[in-house]
Amino acid sequence: MKALVLAGGAGTRLRPFTHTSAKQLMPIANRPVLFYGLDAIRAAGITEAGIVVGDTAAEIRAAVGDGSRFGLAVTYLPQEAPLGLAHAVRVARDYLGGDDFLMYLGDNFFGDGIGAVADRFRRERPGAELLLAKVPDPRAYGVAELDPDGAVRRLAEKPRRPRSDLAVTGVYAFTPDVHEQVDRLRPSRRGELEITDAIQGLIDSGRRVTATRTGGDWKDIGSAAGLLEANRAVLDRLAADPARDHRIDGAGGVSGPVVAEPGAWLEGSRVTGPAVIGAGARIIGSVIGPHTSIGAGCRVEHSEIEDSVLLPGATVRGAGPVRGSLLGHASEVAATAPARRCQRLVLGDHSKVLIDP
Ligand code: TTP
Repeated sequence: MKALVLAGGAGTRLRPFTHTSAKQLMPIANRPVLFYGLDAIRAAGITEAGIVVGDTAAEIRAAVGDGSRFGLAVTYLPQEAPLGLAHAVRVARDYLGGDDFLMYLGDNFFGDGIGAVADRFRRERPGAELLLAKVPDPRAYGVAELDPDGAVRRLAEKPRRPRSDLAVTGVYAFTPDVHEQVDRLRPSRRGELEITDAIQGLIDSGRRVTATRTGGDWKDIGSAAGLLEANRAVLDRLAADPARDHRIDGAGGVSGPVVAEPGAWLEGSRVTGPAVIGAGARIIGSVIGPHTSIGAGCRVEHSEIEDSVLLPGATVRGAGPVRGSLLGHASEVAATAPARRCQRLVLGDHSKVLIDP
């Protein structure tokens, strides 16, 4: 079985970050979300992966390389425009040949991996196998309606009136039979070739489509809120790593699981885990955490940062409490005088905010 990883797309929900970088490389606990996915694919026993890439191809290639770091042989598959998940399968047709494949959306994160889907698919070899998650509001997702025996009866893409609370997550397994369905597709109302339509085609032609429910964490980091949620989930699992844990230079208090990367410097500050402090970051007179990831080379002075993600090179000076925030690469937050009101900021790369309290 091969993997087909989708790392193109438009990324409209995660603007402005996607104007300047690839969504799949946005960090969770200072590591690109795509890397967790590639690890999960390898852990599911797959060694060959095709990665569909779009406008951000160069950035993805630079980060992933030939895949050997992940135990994978990677082939890049350029998609001329983000014309839909099923279009990406069409692009990959020659690469996939007659093989079964596991399709993985590169902006998804699965806390418990994807082994259960791959194992069941290998065992039962249905026309398709989906991973479903119960969600409070299914209207933003593909929604699955199941038969009493658990097989998928019907799929609806972002329905106004969902018939269940089971969302289709970002991992699917297919036999090559799906290609025939993909070939027949016409663009949907939103102008995309929808994978849900191809799966519905399999069901309508009498193929069995099975579904496994994920009990664990599933996060779609396609929005700022989703990324912060994934960051919290990964940090909550942060195992104290004796090689890196608490090795922060300088004075200051650290409690709970805190991973400090080489050269992180803490002065007159307090860090409450779970938190990650990136290489060369400098934290001065500040309170950090919990649930905070500070990227490499960031600088935080006289500020409080909680439940937030700072991308590499971000600077926060005298900003008072900053919570639930996502600060882009080399962005700057400062205040004209000591600030006390809490800020919630979503700031694109290289943006500047001056708070006038
Ligand atoms: P989506 O999040 O569904 O689409 P998107 O990335 O275009 O984002 P938005 O809805 O915010 O505009 O895509 C899921 C994953 O699949 C993501 O990693 C991007 C990738 N993808 C492709 O590679 N090609 C495509 O044609 C599409 C639509 C998505």
